[in-house]
Amino acid sequence: MTASKKITLTRPDDWHLHVRDGEILSSVLEDTAKRFSRAIIMPNLADPVTNTEKAEQYRERIINALPNDYKLTFEPLMTLYLTNRTSTAEIRKAWDSGFIHAVKWYPAGATTNSDKGVSDIVACYDVLEVMAEIGMPLLVHGEVTDPTVDVFDREKTFIDQFLSGIIKNFPTLKVVFEHITTEHAVQFVKDAPAYVGATITAHHMLLNRNALFTGGIRPHHYCLPVLKRENHRKALIEAATSGNKKFFLGTDSAPHSQKAKENACGCAGIYSSHGGIEFYAEIFDKAGALDKLEAFASFHGPDFYGLPRNRDKITLSRKQSPIPETVPFGNESCVPLRAGGTLEWVID
Ligand code: NCD
Ligand code: ZN
Repeated sequence: MTASKKITLTRPDDWHLHVRDGEILSSVLEDTAKRFSRAIIMPNLADPVTNTEKAEQYRERIINALPNDYKLTFEPLMTLYLTNRTSTAEIRKAWDSGFIHAVKWYPAGATTNSDKGVSDIVACYDVLEVMAEIGMPLLVHGEVTDPTVDVFDREKTFIDQFLSGIIKNFPTLKVVFEHITTEHAVQFVKDAPAYVGATITAHHMLLNRNALFTGGIRPHHYCLPVLKRENHRKALIEAATSGNKKFFLGTDSAPHSQKAKENACGCAGIYSSHGGIEFYAEIFDKAGALDKLEAFASFHGPDFYGLPRNRDKITLSRKQSPIPETVPFGNESCVPLRAGGTLEWVID
């Protein structure tokens, strides 16, 4: 028997989250609101959140769908979906709204609902210039879409072909390299100016790419960027547990229905909000770095975004608790990360 362990942290935030829309919202939001005080809400709806009005309406739908207990304690931090045609006026309007905190760059075709994303980032240079001026962060899905580039190399190629250039051209632009998956990305962020940060998911630190093929094809482990080799998984754990303030928590919990995942053309995305902080506690504990968890989960994110740190606390205990085979998802079901297994940590 291992000794029981407890840790108390400032309440964390999730700096990268998909909650979808409509009846799905009330299925997934409670898992996040129970654990986190705020979450950066991704704008890749089927009808993407491309302007301030849409973001305001989406925010209202989220707040309406929150269980009553969390309506006053949980804050959705909205984002705008960048397109080739986003105007500088729209960017200023979004920033002035006070509830839109960043702009998301999806290379067109890179991932779920990214077809209306950016096909030519140079067309967005005027927008990036304004963002640098006002201090609005650019959140980047860092993968090239070139079909001749191997899917496992798309993050590294993106750094070389796009990200290095953007950072040189816009040295004061705040950039979050989202859900990094490789040692190249870790090194790039470490070497970059202080304005460049990165989110790290739990699943990319828990699993390597073998998890896609254990005993057969495993659609519930398919996400984008796709899982990588073991050396990359280790580099991510090292970065997250290093105390370096450029790295912070972003679950990229991205639920799809069981049907959409268990399909001849299954969707990319892993649902992890049911263990949104617990999986990280497990990772940090195993790495002998529980003392670094609070800064990664609760300090580095708000400091980067220029928002206040949360004031209330949560306590986690090392104790097993079962994970269901499925969770409700509107009138369908969704298979959560480690379905049928156990969480190694629980929230008291
Ligand atoms: C996300 C989704 O389903 O919206 N999927 C994923 O695999 N992470 C989109 C994204 O963040 O790439
Ligand atoms: Zn995402």
